[in-house]
Amino acid sequence: MVSDLERVKAEALSAVREARTPSELQALRVRYLGRRGELTALLRGVGKLDPALRPEAGRLANEARQAVEAALEEREGALSEAGAGCGAETLDVTLPGRPVLLGRRHPVTRVRQEVEDIFLRMGFEVAEGPEVELDYYNFELLNMPPDHPARDMQDSFYVTPHILLRTHTSPVQLRYMRAHAPRLPVRIIVPGKVYRRDDDPTHAPMFTQVEGLVVDRGITLAHLKGVLEEFARAMFGAETRIRLRPSYFPFTEPSAEVDVSCTLCGGRGCRTCHNGWLEILGSGMVHPEVLRNGGYDPGKVTGFAFGMGVERVAMLKYGIDDLRHFFINDVRFLRQF
Ligand code: DAH
Repeated sequence: MVSDLERVKAEALSAVREARTPSELQALRVRYLGRRGELTALLRGVGKLDPALRPEAGRLANEARQAVEAALEEREGALSEAGAGCGAETLDVTLPGRPVLLGRRHPVTRVRQEVEDIFLRMGFEVAEGPEVELDYYNFELLNMPPDHPARDMQDSFYVTPHILLRTHTSPVQLRYMRAHAPRLPVRIIVPGKVYRRDDDPTHAPMFTQVEGLVVDRGITLAHLKGVLEEFARAMFGAETRIRLRPSYFPFTEPSAEVDVSCTLCGGRGCRTCHNGWLEILGSGMVHPEVLRNGGYDPGKVTGFAFGMGVERVAMLKYGIDDLRHFFINDVRFLRQF
């Protein structure tokens, strides 16, 4: 009897362990534990044994039944878990993956970096200054005393009567010269954000400029023209030409506005440029007063300076018709660059 029990128990346990499907398991349950099952029969047989042997045989038979029942349950659990996994995970590994959306550099950042690269190649260094600026640097040291009419073109956002959001990057000319005088040469570009009380298709309350400043012995208008021509060719293509138009800025004398030949029609004249030329920046020979304010002797050194709008350059380069596209953050616009 005892050896029968051991044998049936071992058989049942190994059969359960190898069962592959819930229905196989159900069949095993019937075969061993059902009303006419093999273990059930042995359990019944205990009653017919010699009373002295009954307790021991009964204990063994019960243990066998519990072991088989536990094994059946465990296996059932394992099979149904695997089954559920199969049903729920309808993973088709042959489908193409979902693309990860990568951001990209903003067109203004791209063009700003391109401008920086071009001037770095010509030996310029990149300098920076504060966006919240003193009136003193933003206007006064640049030859624009409190009542100067040129201030009207650059109305800004004031923090206090003497502190404002800078209206241009030109104050960094003075900050840099004052920090480095009398060292020569000065050869810097200053990229950065500037602020004005403007808002229309070609003007925004915040935009980006790149200032340039060169100071050394013997700097002439020819250096200004050569550097800006080199810049225009590198930025817009080797066939690009530039022209200087007389203009006025309080901090340069003489002053000039610089146009490039139209990038769309090559200078023949089209709807965008009308006359073949597009204005990209203001420039001039640094005013002696500004050199003096910077700590340099205008009797010994001269310099040229320029300031360009980065958004404007980006608009010409990419044929964009409204400046405000740059700041609305519509991904359909930004994705094109
Ligand atoms: N600061 C001027 C502006 O924002 C641009 C400018 C003109 C800068 C002439 C210069 C310059 O350095 O020489 O309108």
